[in-house]
Amino acid sequence: MDRIVITGGTRLSGEVCVSGSKNATLALMAAALLGRGETVLENVPGVRDVEHMLALLRALGAQADWDAQDSHTVRINPESVATPEAPYELVRKMRASFMVLGPLVARFGCGRVSEPGGCAIGVRPIDQHLKGLQALGAKIRLDHGVIEAFGARLQGASISFDTVTVNGTQNVMMAATLADGETVLDNAAREPEVVELADMLNRMGAEIRGAGSDRVVIQGVPELRGVSHRVSGDRIEAGTLLAAGMITRGDVLVTGIDPVTMDSMLDKMRETGAQITTTVDSVHVRADAPSEPIRVVTAPYPSFPTDMQAQLMAVLCLGRSSSVVTETVFENRFMHVPELVRMGADIALDGRSAHIRGVSVLAAAPVMATDLRASACLLVAGLAARGETVVNRVYHIDRGYERIEEKLCSLGAEIRREG
Ligand code: EPU
Repeated sequence: MDRIVITGGTRLSGEVCVSGSKNATLALMAAALLGRGETVLENVPGVRDVEHMLALLRALGAQADWDAQDSHTVRINPESVATPEAPYELVRKMRASFMVLGPLVARFGCGRVSEPGGCAIGVRPIDQHLKGLQALGAKIRLDHGVIEAFGARLQGASISFDTVTVNGTQNVMMAATLADGETVLDNAAREPEVVELADMLNRMGAEIRGAGSDRVVIQGVPELRGVSHRVSGDRIEAGTLLAAGMITRGDVLVTGIDPVTMDSMLDKMRETGAQITTTVDSVHVRADAPSEPIRVVTAPYPSFPTDMQAQLMAVLCLGRSSSVVTETVFENRFMHVPELVRMGADIALDGRSAHIRGVSVLAAAPVMATDLRASACLLVAGLAARGETVVNRVYHIDRGYERIEEKLCSLGAEIRREG
């Protein structure tokens, strides 16, 4: 099993370009099921979750693969979908698989997707996805761990989500594009990935207004067609690379990213004392001193993203004084804390908050984590730790970061992958 070995202490400097957004891509791939003919996605990151989604689309009977000429383009043609059933093996590995349910029922009249169950970062129910699809008239049945949704023709409806859910908003929005009449989604997620999905659906022929606000209005249309779409840069990968720059007191330019989608992250990074400057498609960070103490509270967009909480915490471990990080989105997203403590960090957990007292050094150790962002946090910590940090279970990182060790290496990090 692969592991990543980092010799900490090198100051990172230079320029690095982010890959396309993993989370945007996964929703866009599900949306391809709605269009007649082929959808082509460019700037797709070469990460494990994308491979899972390709495998899932193929299991449904769609043609779905990487382009033969371009290693960052995927082509999806749903015309041959035969068995609208997402198998447990794939859904279990990746919860985002559940996003195919809305498109399947809207386009093919029925969909069967295994109940995803819990995952490393919390219980993560899917009740809001189901509430939305039911409101659109889909009949939902749970049969031996498989959720079935039927509905010959969905009907527009007014739906108010009880909690803000990104994939739930996307799933129901996709289903509503082919419903009869108007659907209004209230308390919708406002993430850039929701906006990007709405933009692509509109180019496929959908009529969606308000994406990016908490009220999305969808006028159903009879059919959608496949399109070509270029996936935007990954704001969480960008944030992770900036954190790597900060923890090594480096000077790093991250390109291929719209900084507007990173406002809350960049604000917090500035509060730590890092110098941040932006252009339309890049962010530059320079950090010369230990970070100042800050308070971070994760919450849905436009607030600070839960997906960057762990990586920023690594930086705060070497801060000048005490910081507090509060996680409000997921109930179990502090798995990196015990590992950081093993590296010498001083962190006390108190319910949903982590109290971090800055220390002057972190010490390398063998570490492992059980989810993607926790693993990224350990990579960041390893870059500044004294000695050789070995990050095990690298497959978590490979789910969402493309060639991260090569990118860090290009910035001067002493990092290698071992098989
Ligand atoms: N929730 C419910 N009921 C639902 C759906 C969600 O109670 O029906 C709760 C969840 O349990 C959680 C909160 O709502 O407490 C927010 O979850 P959300 O549904 O927004 O998460 P998601 O859509 O399943 C996406 C990203 C995650 C990211 C979250 C929050 C994808 C593929 N995944 O998940 O990304 O953390 O939004 O921003 O888009 C990651 O990339 O590492 C990752 C986990």
